[in-house]
Amino acid sequence: VKLSNRVANLKPSPTLMLAAKAKELAATGHQVVSLAVGEPDWDTFQVAKRGGIEAIEKGQTKYSPSNGIPELRKAIAERTTAEIGITYSAEHVTVTSGGKFVIFSALQALINPGDEVIIPGPYWVSYPTMVELAEGVPVCVPCDQTDGFKLTPENLRRHLRPKTRLLILNSPSNPTGVMYSEDELLALAKVLRDFPNVMILSDDIYNRLVFEKSVAPHILHVAPDLVGRTLVMNGAAKTYSMTGWRVGWALGPLPWIQGMTNYQSQTTSCAPTMAQVATLKAIQEGEPELKEALTELKRRRDFVVGLLSNIPGVVPNTPDGAFYVWPSIKAHLGKKWNGKTLTTSSDFSAALLEDQKVVVVPGIEFGLDGYVRISYALKDSQMKLAADRIRAFVQVLL
Ligand SMILES: Cc1ncc(COP(=O)(O)O)c(C=O)c1O
Repeated sequence: VKLSNRVANLKPSPTLMLAAKAKELAATGHQVVSLAVGEPDWDTFQVAKRGGIEAIEKGQTKYSPSNGIPELRKAIAERTTAEIGITYSAEHVTVTSGGKFVIFSALQALINPGDEVIIPGPYWVSYPTMVELAEGVPVCVPCDQTDGFKLTPENLRRHLRPKTRLLILNSPSNPTGVMYSEDELLALAKVLRDFPNVMILSDDIYNRLVFEKSVAPHILHVAPDLVGRTLVMNGAAKTYSMTGWRVGWALGPLPWIQGMTNYQSQTTSCAPTMAQVATLKAIQEGEPELKEALTELKRRRDFVVGLLSNIPGVVPNTPDGAFYVWPSIKAHLGKKWNGKTLTTSSDFSAALLEDQKVVVVPGIEFGLDGYVRISYALKDSQMKLAADRIRAFVQVLL
């Protein structure tokens, strides 16, 4: 079969591919430790599971409106209003099957061929590909360690051009776990005020998985005047450990939301109805379980940062949120393993997998080499085992 150019050139998601590779190796009897997963290892929240079961039993198993069930849209509007201080109502909300498709349909609804989209890097792997699928041009802007891996106002201004249509922000970030402060967001907003045609997509999927605050600071909180050109996206996946339920949403200007809903109505129709009911329950009653999850996540963050700090040449950052840590492995690049020179983070990760059966995602996949992404949504025993193996690996490098 000769595939379309669009799909023939499409690279599968490297993180999902690595997770699959880990499962494959495990199935052939290897003791694999995968630090590549992008989901919590704890169960879906009890309130959500019960909500889903009840929905099925009550027959809430048919199509919903393309923009989601009204009760859920109302709850999302209220939750977001409380989080970022913008008054939203249910009509500003569209719900669809997963946060990923929210971003995809947002880009499909906004981007014309040749439009440029600024993506601060390190970035979530799917952004550039989704921009390309919308025939836009990803403008990936590397953000250095010295800037905390964050976009600075100067760096933003340097990349804004007449063709710039959109800026994507993601805080806390996948892959670094770093979060923008109010002041940093305000500084970006000041630059954006000079470019009124540039829209903003704020990917807030990890905004509740933060350690020092109850919710991550938001650009609309510090610059509510940008509301007419900002899409706020979020989902149930990470906050309520509902990755498999596929419920994501966006709030924003009505024409953008309506465009996305039309696109969704011709593609996925709607998010699974029972999963929407489960999400509603999670939003309404999930706070106590979230509190417990966050206590555990913070403990694990400190545990993994401590473990990695003790490995020669591995220098972890201290993430503010999400469940990723982004250590530098620059000290090991240029060294040899088994006669092969480890030039990039991909070489490092491949050799680590072959030697020690530990899966980490190479930083190069997120647009910044010299680092790896480690997910610490894992039990302590697994983390400890992984750290021991990484130490054993770096000790044999010459
Ligand atoms: C930064 C970011 N945005 C969005 C998503 C989408 O999540 P989902 O499609 O599971 O709702 C993910 C998931 O990995 C993510 O890491």
